[in-house]
Amino acid sequence: MSPVKVADFISHLMTALSGCGLYSERHPVFTEYTEKAAALLKDLYSDGSVSFLMIGDSLIVNEAPFTEKNFSAVNFLKRLKKKRIEKIVIREGIDTEEFRQFATQMASRESIAASPHISVGIIEIKLKTSAVGAPELLGKGMSAVRNALQGTSRFRQLDMISLEGAVLDFISTLKKEMNVLRIITPVKSHNEYTYVHATNVAVLTLFQAEALGLTGEALHDIGLAGLLHDVGKMFVPATVLDKRSALTPEEWDEMKKHPAHGAAYLSRMREVPPLAPIVAFEHHMKYNGSGYPDTKRIARKQHIVSQMVSIADFFDALRTERPYRKSLDVQTVTGLLKEAAGRDFNPLLVDSFLSALSRVSEGM
Ligand SMILES: [Fe+2]
Ligand SMILES: [Fe+2]
Repeated sequence: MSPVKVADFISHLMTALSGCGLYSERHPVFTEYTEKAAALLKDLYSDGSVSFLMIGDSLIVNEAPFTEKNFSAVNFLKRLKKKRIEKIVIREGIDTEEFRQFATQMASRESIAASPHISVGIIEIKLKTSAVGAPELLGKGMSAVRNALQGTSRFRQLDMISLEGAVLDFISTLKKEMNVLRIITPVKSHNEYTYVHATNVAVLTLFQAEALGLTGEALHDIGLAGLLHDVGKMFVPATVLDKRSALTPEEWDEMKKHPAHGAAYLSRMREVPPLAPIVAFEHHMKYNGSGYPDTKRIARKQHIVSQMVSIADFFDALRTERPYRKSLDVQTVTGLLKEAAGRDFNPLLVDSFLSALSRVSEGM
């Protein structure tokens, strides 16, 4: 499948959508360009379907990052974001009428209904029972994180002794097994997500910090900040957190409050290093000043540790199993990181992370 065909498909679809927006779905521009886009689909199928996934600000078409950033590609991503769609899968056998209906819904305010050859949705975490890799490497540290985070409530003190012990355990594990990819653990069930993700982000952040030459007390605080970055999610209603379909704009607003909730909670806790609330607050900010919380007005710059945690967070989210296919391979994830360097992430940190990864792992 050539990127040129993908670009053409997106450009025809976007021309159709703007035609529909300006005039109506009965306008000849809409008809002409939906037909053109539909005709191109046959060149895009791989194994009977073509998938468009949006991860952050990147588009992945059939598992390959689509890196062209022309006007229609940027607008396509904006449209998906606005409609809260993270993936679209179109299967072979679709006819012009079904495609036309899909395009009409894409152009309007309506949500997109599933149809025989099209599925649309958000990316979910797969409930997978078999683990790969070597999760036992983190056995002790991870169960300490589980106990500490599962007992957490907004009214209780954090079990800092367990969390500190876990960080020491991660640091010594990284000394024994330098290939961080063998250490991070896949999420096996929805229940495990919180502490497995916290652990993976802490380990991936420590790995980056060590690659930069940081040691001692600094490393310790960085590990804790990584572990606690998402602690504010306990203030997000479970109905939003556990929802398996696309969030409504109101639910998404609730979700976006977790950095501020986490920072407020952590700054009230005794014995939590001051770095932890900073990182909790800033981990969804982006290098170019976008992201959330929206701090453009006060021109707040992201702390370098928050920048490392956001790379770790992205990396772990992509390595997590998805319901429609296995997690993306390291090359794809690496490609996406490179593509987002300078926009979402500090390019120097991405470089340092990727070169440290290639030093410790073969075949990258
Ligand atoms: Fe988060
Ligand atoms: Fe996270």
